[in-house]
Amino acid sequence: MKVLEVKNLKTSFAIKKKRFLAIRDVSLHVDEGEVLGIVGESGSGKSVTMKSVVGILPSNGFVESGEILFKEVNLLALKPEEKRALLGNDITMIFQDPMTALNPLKTIGYHIEEVIMRHQKVDRVTARKQAEEILNIVEIPDAKRRLTQYPHEFSGGMRQRVVIGMALVNAPKLLIADEPTTALDVTIQFQILKLIKRLQAENKMAVVLITHDLAVVYNMCHRVLVMYGGKILEEGTREEIFNSPKHPYTLALMESIPNLESDEKAKLEPIEGIAPTLENMPKGCPFAPRCKHAMAICADVMPTGQAFSETHSSYCHLNGGGDA
Ligand SMILES: Nc1ncnc2c1ncn2[C@@H]1O[C@H](COP(=O)(O)OP(=O)(O)OP(=O)(O)O)[C@@H](O)[C@H]1O
Ligand SMILES: [Mg+2]
Repeated sequence: MKVLEVKNLKTSFAIKKKRFLAIRDVSLHVDEGEVLGIVGESGSGKSVTMKSVVGILPSNGFVESGEILFKEVNLLALKPEEKRALLGNDITMIFQDPMTALNPLKTIGYHIEEVIMRHQKVDRVTARKQAEEILNIVEIPDAKRRLTQYPHEFSGGMRQRVVIGMALVNAPKLLIADEPTTALDVTIQFQILKLIKRLQAENKMAVVLITHDLAVVYNMCHRVLVMYGGKILEEGTREEIFNSPKHPYTLALMESIPNLESDEKAKLEPIEGIAPTLENMPKGCPFAPRCKHAMAICADVMPTGQAFSETHSSYCHLNGGGDA
């Protein structure tokens, strides 16, 4: 069952009184129990896509058109209070920096209890019990005492566990995690991802995981979207994307990650060139200026999708896209 479906989303930003499209016709869906990865370099539109979904764009950002369906309810048509009832309850989002979600002047217990009481009709004693349970679930020992402490008394990894606990305490149907471990060191990253994966599987939650780390995607995701220049350039199951990538951009991304299984010193090959900005978006394929295989048509015409299977598509003239 589709938990989230986004159809033809276009989102723009006002820059010096002109509007520029940042998300250019993005469609996606996430099923119950599925982890969808969104990858792409910095500026490709990963965060803005999901911020459009939950309605937390910066003040100069606008959803221009499209549909955003959460269990068939159009989120764009909801009143603000109806939307607030969904957020933090059925849909939750966690970010890279856990401190943005935590008030340094309030205890950890206060934070979790507030999230519980905002969405469930329970008193503080019951909320405290649930808060203690959720700390156990996110594997924070000594929960009772920990609830009385303040955010600065927690390490970065522990704070992110708290934020995950807050995001999960009301049993959401959809969790959106935007680079949830980027700020953490590698061993803690691994623990946090394992935790998200375990809780996702136990609760059959739909998860959208935003990252620029393909190794994380490989370990966590069922399906993958590759974004660039505000567009999806390739999508497929994990196996399709990793075993038979079709788009030159996906291939370039793959080449830019070290081979984790080889003993040789990892040789990172960053993709040559820089990503386009909103003001100088190419007319055709956004990757064309950096693409080793670009042809004349690529600069002028954005290719249409070419399907390789029911789940696998690439948007590239080389793959036959654009012949349609
Ligand atoms: N408030 C804003 N005003 C103008 N442009 C913006 C604003 N926020 C984002 N953008 C632009 O929108 C595009 C998409 O940005 P987005 O934050 O979604 O990228 P991202 O893929 O999440 O990158 P990162 O990996 O760095 O988080 C970029 O070109 C970015 O510069
Ligand atoms: Mg981002």
